[in-house]
Parts: sequence; C-alpha cells; structure tokens
Amino acid sequence: MYRISIQELEPGMIVGRSILNSEGNPLLIKNTILTSQYIDRLEQLGLGSVYIKDGLADVEVPEVVSQQVQTAVARTLKQNFNTLKSKGRINSQTLKKSVAMMIDSIASNREVLFSLEDIRAFDDYLFYHSINVSILSIMTGFDLGYNELQLMELGVGALLHDLGLILVDQAILNKPGPLTADEMRMMQKHPEAGFNILRAYDEISLLSAHIAYQHHERWDGSGYPRNLSEDNILEYGRIVAIADVFDALLSDRPYRKGYTLDEVTTVATKLTNRYFDPEILEVFLSNIAAYPVGSLVKLNNGAIAVVISASKKTRLYPSLAIIVDHDGNRVKPAAQFKTSPSSRARIVHKLGHKESQAVIADYLAQQSS
Ligand SMILES: [Fe+2]
Repeated sequence: MYRISIQELEPGMIVGRSILNSEGNPLLIKNTILTSQYIDRLEQLGLGSVYIKDGLADVEVPEVVSQQVQTAVARTLKQNFNTLKSKGRINSQTLKKSVAMMIDSIASNREVLFSLEDIRAFDDYLFYHSINVSILSIMTGFDLGYNELQLMELGVGALLHDLGLILVDQAILNKPGPLTADEMRMMQKHPEAGFNILRAYDEISLLSAHIAYQHHERWDGSGYPRNLSEDNILEYGRIVAIADVFDALLSDRPYRKGYTLDEVTTVATKLTNRYFDPEILEVFLSNIAAYPVGSLVKLNNGAIAVVISASKKTRLYPSLAIIVDHDGNRVKPAAQFKTSPSSRARIVHKLGHKESQAVIADYLAQQSS
C-alpha cells in the first residue's frame, strides 16, 4: 500500500484505505477499483492523495485510535464548532467524552506507533488535524507518566487548540498564498480568542484553555502572542506545539501535498532547542513510526523490502518482507525477515515515493510476465 497524489491516479488502481468525511460517510471505500469518473470526483473534492494497493504484501496498517472513534470525535467536534458559531456555546460534556474515548483507545494500544502519513478531505481538515494533535499529545502524555486528570486536561486543550480560528475570516483561513500583514494580525488573534472562549467554562480546566493560548509559543521565545519561552510555556503547551507543527506539515493542503515523514523529522530535529523543548521532542518522536507499515525500505546489502510490522519496542527494527534481493532479483513469495540491533542486514533508508513506485511497477511487471 502506498500513497499517491491525485494527479498520478489511473483507472484500474485499487483503493487501499477507505476515506471518510466527518459525517462518517465514505468518500471512497477500500478495495474500490478506480474509474476516471471516481478520479474526477476526488479531484473535485479537493483531496491531495489516496492510498493505493500495490499487490506486494497484504499488510494492515495498525491504528492507535480506530477510524470509527475518530469519525465519532470528528462529528462531535463539528457540532461544537457549529453551535459555537450559531449559539455562542459549546457542550463541554460531549467534548470530554470524546477525549475519554481517545484516551481509552491509546491506553489499550500503547505498543502501536502513530503513522503520520494519513489523508483526509480538506473541508474537514481542521477536525482531523485537531484529532491528530490530540492523539499525538495524549501519547506523549502517557510516556511522561501523566495521570488520568492530566491526560484529560491535555487531550481537551489539544483537541480545542485552534477553536479561536472560528473568529477568523474564512477567506483568510483558506487563502492559498502568503498573508498580508493585516491578515496575519487577524490570524494571530486565534490563540487568545480560543483561550477566552474556553476559560468561560467551569467544567474545562483553565490549563486546557492555556493550551489554546500557548500553542504558537516557541521554546526560544520567537512565537506568539506573548513571546513566552522555555519553562514559562506550560509543559502541555510545549507538547501541543510539537504535535501541531508535525501534523500540519504532513497534511495535504489546498496548495501543496504534505511533506514526507523523513522531511518533517529532519525539519523538527533542526528546530529542536529553537522551536521545541528538546526533551519533549525526543519523547514525541518515540511514538512516530520511523518506517511506517506498508512503506518500502532499502537494506545495506541493496535488497528492498516492505515493512510488515513495527511496534514501539521495535521502532527502528521492524519486521520486513524482502521483495528484491541483493542482486536485484524479485523474491517471490516475499521472504520474511526480522531486523534487530545485532543483525548484519539493516535498513539504510526508506524509499521515496517515486522510487517506491518504480520498484512496485517493476515487481508487478515481472509477476505478470
Ligand atoms: Fe493554531
């Protein structure tokens, strides 16, 4: 299974992972064979990319929080944004219930790594972005030994960190190009706006409200709105800042396809000590799949393999299925292989999108000949 941009889709390709909108309705169901009509429709919906089945290894990508739970949370979030707009209020009970569901899922999937190469329709971008930020923050909170109350404060603040965007003009939010100075000033009001909305609710911790206020502050004091730095930013705020940037860079946007995980990890590592708390960044990264299930990797002897499983304990040493051996010959059926710190064969790097596509095309061509 691999991710391909809409422009590269061709009729006959098979969808590898269902795409749901925030209502829980499938835009496209797994195993659908694409036709040119489907492809046109996806383009109209503004999707950036989709997962396609590659016929190499039938792997299931494990999820920290299931699609069903994510869809339910997205629906609750959407309802709350709507009632905030129309009636000026949110329902904190439904939001807390949503966060509790996510905490429960994460608690029972502590070994599952987060695969950030995810996709969503962008009319629902804000909801799925908020959910990802909340999941990533809660995972980090578990590693930091947070108790249930702390996980809830963190999860609620992370889920609602961008609530203040509701007061920003849609035209500014969706503007494809750079913002003018005035538009930027409007945009930069959203942390304080979110804080003011949330702190009016007794049932929502003031610390959760402060997450909204602080999520654009940076470790070196270069953030906004108050130029807070280091320990003057709440630990919750430092966690959510990392999760927010990570997920935003990885997502497809109206004007660009998301960056790859390698690119984002490189950017984040360069920004440690500048934008991010180095200790929290390290904890955060320990939950991210370095080699996501389904991706292709190259070994030091030149062989190429599909990643078939990886867990938190084996983050850098996943199980593989070798599809091309060190002489460049196709291996069929694929040979299972478990990497370990002591094995001679080790992963050199994850193949890029173009390179993966070429390998897969070649593999399938040999298969049919
Ligand atoms: Fe924000």
